[in-house]
Amino acid sequence: MSQATNQSWGGRFSEPTDAFVERFTASVTFDQRLARQDIRGSVAHATMLARVGVLSDEERNAIVEGLNEIAAEIERGEFQWSVPLEDVHMNIEARLTDKIGITGKKLHTGRSRNDQVATDIRLFLRDEIDVIEVELVRLREGMIELADREAETIMPGFTHLQTAQPVTFGHHLLAWQEMLARDHERLLDCRKRVNVMPLGAAALAGTTYPIDRHITAELLGFSRPAENSLDAVSDRDFAIEFTSFASILLMHLSRMSEELVLWTSAQFDFIDLPDRFCTGSSIMPQKKNPDVPELVRGKTGRVYGHLMALLTLMKSQPLAYNKDNQEDKEPLFDAVDTVRDCLKAFADMVPAIEPKKANMEVAALKGFSTATDLADYLVRKGVAFRDAHEIVGQSVAFGLREEKDLSEMSLTELKQFSDIIEEDVFEVLTLEGSVAARNHIGGTAPNQVRAAAQRARDAVSVLKDAM
Ligand code: ARG
Repeated sequence: MSQATNQSWGGRFSEPTDAFVERFTASVTFDQRLARQDIRGSVAHATMLARVGVLSDEERNAIVEGLNEIAAEIERGEFQWSVPLEDVHMNIEARLTDKIGITGKKLHTGRSRNDQVATDIRLFLRDEIDVIEVELVRLREGMIELADREAETIMPGFTHLQTAQPVTFGHHLLAWQEMLARDHERLLDCRKRVNVMPLGAAALAGTTYPIDRHITAELLGFSRPAENSLDAVSDRDFAIEFTSFASILLMHLSRMSEELVLWTSAQFDFIDLPDRFCTGSSIMPQKKNPDVPELVRGKTGRVYGHLMALLTLMKSQPLAYNKDNQEDKEPLFDAVDTVRDCLKAFADMVPAIEPKKANMEVAALKGFSTATDLADYLVRKGVAFRDAHEIVGQSVAFGLREEKDLSEMSLTELKQFSDIIEEDVFEVLTLEGSVAARNHIGGTAPNQVRAAAQRARDAVSVLKDAM
């Protein structure tokens, strides 16, 4: 180290870094979270250097042993992180040299922090994606089973949040599940581009040592070395892709949350959430608040913010590495944590949703939800659809005046609007008749919901086998 500074890069400097600048430029307070991946990357790098003859086996072994001890110190919470040492990489390297002496200084041969940090983040994100996938699968499975159980439960379906047509609760839950199926695809697609190895790009142009990047890639489980050294150290697309996956997922969870909040209200009263997912009010003794879905809905905003932060971080960076990139970590870490927590909350909560079937049914009987069924009935008896629409419109207007649902009207009352209507109309005006009639793939009929649940189960199990 130089006389003037205690920095590992201090050789060309004549005065120490300003104390504020030291703090301002340091990342160790947050990037220490990459320690495990940093050590894994260093072990692979040293192993590769030994295989190609740049390090001796003894040197490689001393390095690996030292790094393993450091990993244990970090695990035990004994490691002393130092802000003057700037980041996780230099903290670990300095400790290695403390422990094993001059050989520790050889670890950084043929490498730069630029390819090192890019490798660490990719290893980190790959680990986290795998954990996230487990939670996502757990949520999908819970949702599919609940949908199957509730294949016959009838609720009002809405457009414009106005009662539209009856649907089954299972069908509604499987609509949620489709959103998650697409999120799952996006996650796995993102993982492919995360799983490419920057190491060997060194600072930006590659290195003069006879490295073998295939060895390192294989040791670290990467699918291949990154193709271009300039791109390898500067690319953060993978973090943007993950955060965009996260934003879309959270948008979905937020929509589900919104419905859960509505459904637990006294005005809808469609479901009960067990007490363990709710909290009370400090002033209103009667309150039971759906905090978990509310918070998931609220957390969506910060994840969108992280996506914007990362896109903006990258938008005008010239090749190759720039210090700007140090700002990639906090948004990415927080997006990862938020996704994990929200998925866990949902995976725990969804199977515990208790539908209040009687209330759902009463609600489905309000708002003339079988009006389309009556129109379709008239069409089957030879009335043109537009005329049928008019006839049913008049029946609904009558029902509004008399405060009667279509199914509650007598045959004589219905016949005022069309004498084609016969006794058999009452089969189509029931909720059960209405949902059962939508009996095609993608429709709300209970047997279609059960078949769809089975297809969804099969699709999840194919993905599980590949995990
Ligand atoms: N802490 C830095 C980061 O997070 C590591 C790479 C630093 N490289 C450099 N040339 N200063 O991006």
